[in-house]
Amino acid sequence: MKLAGKIAVVTGGARGIGRAIAERYAAEGARVAVADRLAEEAKSTAAAIGHGAFGIGVDVTSQDEIDAMVAAIVAEAGGIDILVNNAALFDLAPILEITRESYRRIFAVNVEGLLFTLQAVARQMVTQGRGGRIINFASQAGRRGEALVGVYCASKAAVISLTQSAGLDLIRHRINVNAIAPGVVDTPMWDAVDALFAKYEHLPLGEKKRQVGRAVPYGRMGTPADLTGMAVFLASADAEYIVAQTYNVDGGNWMS
Ligand SMILES: NC(=O)c1ccc[n+]([C@@H]2O[C@H](COP(=O)([O-])OP(=O)(O)OC[C@H]3O[C@@H](n4cnc5c(N)ncnc54)[C@H](O)[C@@H]3O)[C@@H](O)[C@H]2O)c1
Repeated sequence: MKLAGKIAVVTGGARGIGRAIAERYAAEGARVAVADRLAEEAKSTAAAIGHGAFGIGVDVTSQDEIDAMVAAIVAEAGGIDILVNNAALFDLAPILEITRESYRRIFAVNVEGLLFTLQAVARQMVTQGRGGRIINFASQAGRRGEALVGVYCASKAAVISLTQSAGLDLIRHRINVNAIAPGVVDTPMWDAVDALFAKYEHLPLGEKKRQVGRAVPYGRMGTPADLTGMAVFLASADAEYIVAQTYNVDGGNWMS
C-alpha cells in the first residue's frame, strides 16, 4: 500500500493508460478521481475500480471545467495529493498537409490543457500546504521529431519542457513534478494511430502495430499495466528527491 490515504486525480482516466493507473493507485490505497471528457465512461470506470473511486466529467480544454473538477474533488475527498496529467489526443499528417485546426486541437489538449490542469491542481496543493506529486504524460514522440507526426511530437516536447520548468518552480512548495515518456502502448489511442498510418503509408490495418511492436527491444508493444509501476513510484515517498525529470518507460526504444 504505497499510496495509503492519498487522494489522486487521473485525467483521461476512463480508458487506456489512465484507467490502468487509476486501478493500480486504488489498489495501492489511494482514493482516485477518474476525470475524463467521457463523463459516463469515467463514472463506470470508477465504479468498476471501487475503493471509493469516483468519476468526474471534465474537458481539460475548458478552464471552467478544470476549476469545477478541482472543486468537486475537494468537496468529495477533501483535497488532492497526486495529479496524473494523462489526457491527450493524437493526430498525424505530412508537414505539407498539417492544418491549423489539427494543430490547435492537439495543442489545446496536450499542452494548454495539461499546463492549466497542472496550475489549478498545484494552486490547490499550495493552499493545502502539504506538498504533492504531479506526473505528466509525455511520450517518446517528445524526444525527437517524426516525419508524419510533427504536431503531436511538438506537443510532447512541450510537455517535457513544461515538466522541467514546473518541477523547478514548484519544488519549493514540496510539489514534485515529473513525467513519464511511454513508447508504443496498445490502447484505444494506438488503434487510431494504426488507422492513420494505414492511410498515409498504404498499409493494411494492424500492420503498423505489428511493425512497431517488433521494433521494441523488449520484443512487444507496451500494455497499459506496464506504465503503472513508474506512476506508483513517482507518486510514492520513494520518489521524494526526484524533481523535473522525464522517465522513459518504453521497453528500450529510447535512451536518455
Ligand atoms: N498509447 C501510446 O502508445 C502512447 C505512447 C506515448 C505516450 N502516450 C501518452 O499516454 C497518455 C495516455 O494515452 P492512451 O494511449 O491511454 O490514450 P487513450 O486515447 O487511449 O486515452 C486517453 C483518454 O484521454 C481522454 N481525453 C482526451 N481528450 C480529453 C480532454 N480534452 N479532456 C479530458 N479527457 C480527455 C480520452 O477520452 C481518453 O479516455 C497520453 O498522454 C498519450 O499521449 C501514449
